[in-house]
This record gives sequence, structure tokens and C-alpha cells, in this order.
Amino acid sequence: MSPSWSPSTWRSLPGKHMPEDYPDAQSLASVEQTLRGMPPLVFAGEARRLKSLLADVEAGRAFLLQGGDCAESFKEFHADNIRDTFRLILQMAVVLTFAGGKPVVKVGRMAGQFAKPRSSATETVGDVTLPSYRGDIINGMDFDAASRTPDPQRLLQAYGQSASTLNLLRAFAGGGYADLHNIHRWTLGFVDDSPQGARYRALSEKISEALAFMAAIGVTPESHPDLHRVEFFTSHEALLLGFEEAMTRVDSTSGDWYDTSAHLLWIGERTRQPDGAHVEFFRGIRNPIGMKVGPTLEADELLRLIEILNPDNEPGRLTLYGRFGHDKIAGRLPGLLKATRAAGARVVWAIDPMHGNTLTAATGYKTRPFDRILSEVKSFVEICRAEGVHPGGVHLEMTGQNVTECLGGARALSEGDLADRYHTHCDPRLNGEQALELAFLVAEKLKEERLAEVLKRAV
Ligand code: TRP
Ligand code: MN
Repeated sequence: MSPSWSPSTWRSLPGKHMPEDYPDAQSLASVEQTLRGMPPLVFAGEARRLKSLLADVEAGRAFLLQGGDCAESFKEFHADNIRDTFRLILQMAVVLTFAGGKPVVKVGRMAGQFAKPRSSATETVGDVTLPSYRGDIINGMDFDAASRTPDPQRLLQAYGQSASTLNLLRAFAGGGYADLHNIHRWTLGFVDDSPQGARYRALSEKISEALAFMAAIGVTPESHPDLHRVEFFTSHEALLLGFEEAMTRVDSTSGDWYDTSAHLLWIGERTRQPDGAHVEFFRGIRNPIGMKVGPTLEADELLRLIEILNPDNEPGRLTLYGRFGHDKIAGRLPGLLKATRAAGARVVWAIDPMHGNTLTAATGYKTRPFDRILSEVKSFVEICRAEGVHPGGVHLEMTGQNVTECLGGARALSEGDLADRYHTHCDPRLNGEQALELAFLVAEKLKEERLAEVLKRAV
């Protein structure tokens, strides 16, 4: 690799959105040293496995479903929350697999999604100005000086919470909860009596029938363990590089560096400067990685970043998440798709329909209109199809909890409803019903695509 790289070379470059106000640098360094001695959360072989699945996505043979909280928090850390997001992902995966006729790669935005970039370094309430809340791995949300002071001990707490979250996810994925025969049991209570609930029940009936037929001809969970389990991967935005560096280890099998804090890490829209600290850190780790692509990124800069981050043009290595906004995607995406296609760049193109569609309601709540989220996803699939690029997947902020954070959806949540159950620590998330509705919409689009492929083969 040129020039030389190590897990700490990012330290000599400008890094945005990282706290510089730890009161005690010595205790931060000592916590990072402790983390270096902790067991890795994921194994390099798993990261390579995800990379090969994403290579299938790049080739148009699979679809990526990635989702979870905008920010995980210490306060809402509970087995029920983990289970509810996990089963929502299973439900959505069933819907998408059935319609698209292709495997769905399941990636949680979970078990490490703690650090947040903030538009302003400080927050002022009345005549008091304090450092902004930057996520539970850095400081606390309460508006007082003590909570807002960065505390190194939070890195250890985030590590511990990630480890137990991942442990439960692995148990759910492999221990029987995700068995396709449980398909009826994944429905969240509040979703059950909605139009999406009814639609899901109808689909589960069909799949149950198919499973009964398959059992009759000898295809059972005993003979085909894949019916009984899912492969589930974790991901987060690798923003706090001191933490990520401490989790980065040489894999003894390959001799390569892996960031073992999650299977997949991504670079945010605000930290993707080609000569910045984050891009420097990312170029040296061998995990599959992602990068957010917003409306200001020009094609030549995108190609330059691809050259730095994926110089060997390895399929599955790099996933690009467009996040333009429903009204900007048509003006921005086609040119970028043309550029990556013309350059022969083997990248996955996916869509994050959340971050370009955020607004502040009259009541002061930060929210996202569901119809704009849907509209950006629809445009994404259509533009990809027009440009001959596989629409590889979706990246969503969502929760299994019955929150009222995004406007609209089948229940037509209004601005007045937002106050009812607005719980997010950061951005507004889709609730279970809205997420399932979105899955059905994407499913329709994938089905159109599948039928078009079948037709093409027939002529
Ligand atoms: N293992 C297969 C897969 O992940 C089938 C499967 C089992 C599945 N349980 C599932 C698919 C739950 C979706 C949801 O595709
Ligand atoms: Mn967010």
C-alpha cells in the first residue's frame, strides 16, 4: 500500500466530527490501551464472508437490506429492543426475498452505532452554551456541563454493550428464532392490525404452504440448515477513530488488518474528504466498507475516492449509499452512475432515503415525510434501471418500537402525532409499520425487475 499505512496514520491528518475536548488525554489513552487488549467483536473470516455476499449484490444476484437505529443509546439498551429490530429485519427480508427471487443480505445498523456527527460543535439553550451531544460513546444527552463533557469510560461501556448486543443477535440468528417456520411469530404486536400486517399474513401463508410442500418432498431444516438460520452482520459509521483504531487487529490467517468492531463500517457524508483522517483510516482496513454519497459530490471526486478506497477494484469491498433527497436524486444520481459504470468501478450502489429528506416540523420536531422516503427509493430503482446498474439495496433508520417520528405512512401520522412517542436520540426513524410498508414497495419494484429479466431471457 502506498504511502505506508498503519491503524494510527490517520492521526496526522485533519479529522472532522471527533471531540477534541476530553479533559484528560491520559485517561483516554489508557482506555484505548485497555480496548486493544479486549477480544475482537467480529472475526476477519466473517467480514470476508460479507464481502463475498456484497460481491453477489454488485453482480445483481442479491439485494442488501441494512437498517437500525440512527444512534443506539445506553438508556434504551434492552433485549426487547434488539429483538424487535431484528425481527423487523427478518420480516422485511422475507418480503424482499419472496418478491425479488434473490437472496437478501441482512446487515444491522446495530451493536456499535453510537457516535454522531453534529452540524454545530455547541448547543445553546437560553443563555447557556454547552458542547453538542455527540452520541453515547462520547458524552451524555442531558443538557448540563457534566453530561456534555466527553468521558473516556464511555468507550468501554459502548464496547460492552456492542458485545452483548452482538451476542444476542448471533443467538437469534443461529439458535432457531430465525427459522422460516416461525414466520408468523415475527410480527410486532402493533403492526399486526395494520394493512401491512394483513399483507404480511397473506405472504406468510404462501410461504408456510411452500415450506409444507418442501417438507413433504424431503427438504427440511434437518436436511437444509439454512431454513433454520440466517447470516446476520453488523455495521456502524466508523466516526470515532480512536475507538476503531483500538479495535483494529492483524488477522492471523491473511496477515491483513481488519477493524473488528463490526463486519462493515461506513464513512459518513461529512467525513469523506479524500485527504482527511477517515478516508486514511478506511483505506487500510480490509473489511467491506461503505461511503455515503450526497448531493454535493461530483463525479471526479467520487472516482478519486473510489481509487483510494478500492484500488484493486475488488467487488464487494465498497458500497455507495446515495442520500440525495427526493427532489435532488434525479439531478444527481444519473451522472454518478454513468461515471462509475464508465470507469468500470465494481461498487454496490444502494440508497439511504432517510438523510436527504429530513425537515423540522412547525412543532419543532425533526421529522421525515414517509412519502418522500418512498419517492426517493422509487426514483433510485428507476434511475438504476435506466442506467443499467443493479439497484443493490437500501440503508434505513428504523426501529421495531412503535414510535411516531416520521410523518405519514398507512396510519397517516401528522405533525400533531409526533409528540406521542418521539424517542430517538438523533434522527427520526421509521417505525415497524412504516418499515414494512417500505419493504412491500421495494418488493414490487424488485418484482418488476425480476419479470423484466425473465422476459429478456425468453426473447
Ligand atoms: N437462510 C435463508 C436466508 O437467510 C432462509 C431464511 C431462514 C430466511 N430464515 C429466514 C430468509 C428469515 C428471510 C428471513 O435467506
Ligand atoms: Mn441519522
